[in-house]
Amino acid sequence: MDVAARAAWLRDELGHHNYAYYVLDAPSIPDAEYDKLFRELQAIEAEHPELRTPDSPTLRVGGEALPQFPSVRHAVPMLSIQTETDTEPSGARAFDGRVRRDLDLAEDAAPVEYAAELKFDGLAINLRYENGILVQAATRGDGETGEEVTQNVRTIRQIPLRLNGDFPEVLEVRGEAYMSRPDFERYNARQREKGLAPLVNPRNGAAGSIRQLDPKLAAQRPLSFFAYGLGETRGWSMPATHSGVLDALATFGLPVSSYRDVVQGSEGLIAFHARIREIRDQLSFDIDGVVYKVNSLALQQRLGFRTREPRWAVAHKYPAEEAMTAVEAIEEQVGRTGAITPVARLKPVFVGGVTVTNATLHNEDEARRKDVRIGDTVVVRRAGDVIPEVVSVVLDKRPMQDMFGNEPLYAPYSRPTHCPVCGSEVEKPEGEAVARCTGGLFCPAQRKQAIIHFASRKAMDIEGLGEKLVDQMVDNAILRTPADIYRLGVLAVANLERMAEKSAANLLEAISRSRNTTLARFIYALGIRNVGEATARDLANHFGNLDALIAADEAALQEVADVGPIVAASIRHFLDQPHNVEVIEQLRAAGVAWAEGEPLRRDTLPLNGQTFVLTGTLPGLGRDEAKAMIEMQGGKVAGSVSKKTNYVVAGAEAGSKLAKAQELGIAVIDENQLRELLNHEIRS
Ligand code: IVH
Repeated sequence: MDVAARAAWLRDELGHHNYAYYVLDAPSIPDAEYDKLFRELQAIEAEHPELRTPDSPTLRVGGEALPQFPSVRHAVPMLSIQTETDTEPSGARAFDGRVRRDLDLAEDAAPVEYAAELKFDGLAINLRYENGILVQAATRGDGETGEEVTQNVRTIRQIPLRLNGDFPEVLEVRGEAYMSRPDFERYNARQREKGLAPLVNPRNGAAGSIRQLDPKLAAQRPLSFFAYGLGETRGWSMPATHSGVLDALATFGLPVSSYRDVVQGSEGLIAFHARIREIRDQLSFDIDGVVYKVNSLALQQRLGFRTREPRWAVAHKYPAEEAMTAVEAIEEQVGRTGAITPVARLKPVFVGGVTVTNATLHNEDEARRKDVRIGDTVVVRRAGDVIPEVVSVVLDKRPMQDMFGNEPLYAPYSRPTHCPVCGSEVEKPEGEAVARCTGGLFCPAQRKQAIIHFASRKAMDIEGLGEKLVDQMVDNAILRTPADIYRLGVLAVANLERMAEKSAANLLEAISRSRNTTLARFIYALGIRNVGEATARDLANHFGNLDALIAADEAALQEVADVGPIVAASIRHFLDQPHNVEVIEQLRAAGVAWAEGEPLRRDTLPLNGQTFVLTGTLPGLGRDEAKAMIEMQGGKVAGSVSKKTNYVVAGAEAGSKLAKAQELGIAVIDENQLRELLNHEIRS
């Protein structure tokens, strides 16, 4: 083979592997192998510059920096889309009503067919392919004229540099360049490590990357892309529907989101809106709502445009996940292990579907980095089930002077020197982000949290002993330690506020039932810092009985898999407090018991040393169930994918963990394969 043919072959080969990896999510070759081919092509091109082509994968790492972006006039203007801000079903009905009216449809005419898709939150890009080769990429600009950003767009691995299949002579594809959440997190982690400013959100990350004059820098801020429409086309007998166009784009090798559907009438739109709302938090990228488009291109043409917006499309939003409000105070919360968390008390604001009055500031460093002060107007975010947080301060609205003209009004946040609950000293070890109250169980806040944790489902599982009740009982000095729980009588409980006699009896019964437990649950229930459920189970298995654990020194503790010096020190510290041992003895005296046994030889278990990560919804197995099955056989279940992961068990709507597994070349199995593995391991 001559060099030119070899170069052409390499381009082709690399193009296919790239597509398999970034668009299909199914790597077809090991990374090292890809890199080898890539370097070979780079070497050929360095020696024979005449063999460089505009579709060479070597262009993906970025070329020369530009002094500025040239402007491009769009062959077909890039329009915007009307936004429906009524986030209720009525918003979809209003759009469908307008479409039917504009089409002069009779009341009883059949429902209009719509293509429903996601509204991606990034930056609109026009890709121009001539004879299948990406020749130009441009931003939207003012819709008429944009900026040419071809070099940067070539660094987006999902965008084909050359099309597949039966593509038309000229094809302009429109879509959204965006930064996925995992890429955003990774980029920010790296920035923080280097002591550099993190990106505010993925959208800013995408805009910054595309508008980066040095394409090598752009290549370091990884973006992704979804196609959602067309610009100019020539020489194409176009499909008759929008969904058909997207299908065709996918066959040309362009990434098209699989979260799309063809639906009938307003009811179909409403169902799509609701369905996406449910899974929104599991997507690996941010969305801004959903988009409805009349599916028939002929009907689209009949509907036409109103000024700069098509009549045949609308963006239907979700309730805002961010809102602005005022900080009325900054207070501290004290957690179970004494961790002090600054919390902004807010003027109540409706966000993400609920009224929010508090938002976490995480810790002192974060509060200072964001420079949140009392009186500030802040942006609060509440997404899904996560705790509301303060995203940023609107500095323009900071009150700068008090009535005497003194400025600034409030000082930057600093953590208290003493615990706001018990007055004990607060300490913050060097290099740690979290400040802690040193009061231990003397501190009522820690006592409450410790008791709530003790009673929680995965610990002693005392149903009905929740936060409100524990608050009352600690405040009334009915409970001081977890051991007091087993001394409660009907009278003490029934006298509590809002406690009917029946529920008092139920609670006492639940308490009584909880006496019968396992060593692992008991250790976990103690609430030792750094000892979670998995570690508690490892400790129980390793030592077999509680006295062996109490007697173990740090070296002996570190013999337990995954117990390092920090965890060992935490355990020893806990058990060295006479008070804690006393509570343990009281609990045993109160009849809390488990089967004591010989230490378990973990190394004899079939899945010993194997780490699993669960992602997505498994069809026939709950998460806790799957976890228990794996752990029964000595395997471990971790929360995130790393090089140490052996298997990723993926179910429906698996997100970033699956992508990460593929990136790292880790085996991905489904529920059936997991069951097979477990069965096999049982048999062998
Ligand atoms: S269609 C003529 N579809 O939203 C219709 N736009 O204001 C042109 N966007 O700048 C747009 N997801 O960047 C369309 N599935 C989607 C979209 C989408 C995001 C963005 C696009 C545009 C803006 C429209």
